[in-house]
Amino acid sequence: MESADFQDINEAKANMDHIYNQRDPRAYFRELKKLNYSIPDTALPIFRKIIEQVRQKEGDTVHVLDLGCSYGVNAALLKHDLSMEELYTHWGATDLDVTDAQEITARDKEYFNNLENPENIEVVGLDLAENAISFAEDVGLLDDGLAMNLETGRLSAQASEIISSTDLVTSTGCVGYVTEKTFDNILPAVMAGRSPWVANFVLRMFPFDVIEETLADRGYVTEKLEGQTFLQRRFESEDEKEQALDQLRDQGIDPMRAEADGNLVAEFYLSRPKKDVDEMSIEDLLVA
Ligand SMILES: C[S@@+](CC[C@H](N)C(=O)[O-])C[C@H]1O[C@@H](n2cnc3c(N)ncnc32)[C@H](O)[C@@H]1O
Repeated sequence: MESADFQDINEAKANMDHIYNQRDPRAYFRELKKLNYSIPDTALPIFRKIIEQVRQKEGDTVHVLDLGCSYGVNAALLKHDLSMEELYTHWGATDLDVTDAQEITARDKEYFNNLENPENIEVVGLDLAENAISFAEDVGLLDDGLAMNLETGRLSAQASEIISSTDLVTSTGCVGYVTEKTFDNILPAVMAGRSPWVANFVLRMFPFDVIEETLADRGYVTEKLEGQTFLQRRFESEDEKEQALDQLRDQGIDPMRAEADGNLVAEFYLSRPKKDVDEMSIEDLLVA
């Protein structure tokens, strides 16, 4: 499948672009709470197990590159052990309605600065939404932010340097918006360091095969975690549900119970250098 085909699949999904690039995260969390957006939560235990594997020595900082990071959502969960429920409460409080984005940023800077980072994790976030990236940098959720679209552009030398120490590439809710082009762009830069593991949660309607091939060209082996699926969010409407189920059927995939019941469901793909896969299977890593 060519990357352009993702555009057709994206037509099946409700368009959320209006909440991705506001000056603070209130609209993002208000709208996604209505849909029980939960993939950062459901992904977290998997990310945690993987982080323990990629940490070279106890106490070492783990450097994560989060693709499609938005307002630093995965960073908040990974660094500060927060949950989506806590973030929904934090950014959904009604007394914030009259507050402007600058005040929210100032408040959140203090809030996140006062939280501990017990796991010693640093997160560089990449997203095309400039406002989301600057918010996440300003409040300290991201240690560095890259506001760029690698579907259409190239990594700068400065951005390449920033991601060269990556230990783990992550994404939730992002593949589909990004294709193999983004991975093709980042791989030479991240592989300048230690060939990081690449951990993607991907909606079942987006085939991962072209990204897998792009990673394979650089010596990566991709495994899908079999037998486990991850709730992403509820369908926004009957129409979205029908279109998504049609997409799955068109690709020869039988809708699961959770999908027929009204949910978008993701699967987990882990891509690692071949020698790491030979040492330990994804099941031993994540299921045992
Ligand atoms: C569904 S949100 C997921 C955000 C976050 N990962 C989470 O799970 O809460 C999708 C994100 O992908 C971003 N995005 C869309 N196109 C992109 C691109 N070409 N490159 C990087 N990010 C992109 C959007 O701006 C948005 O922040």
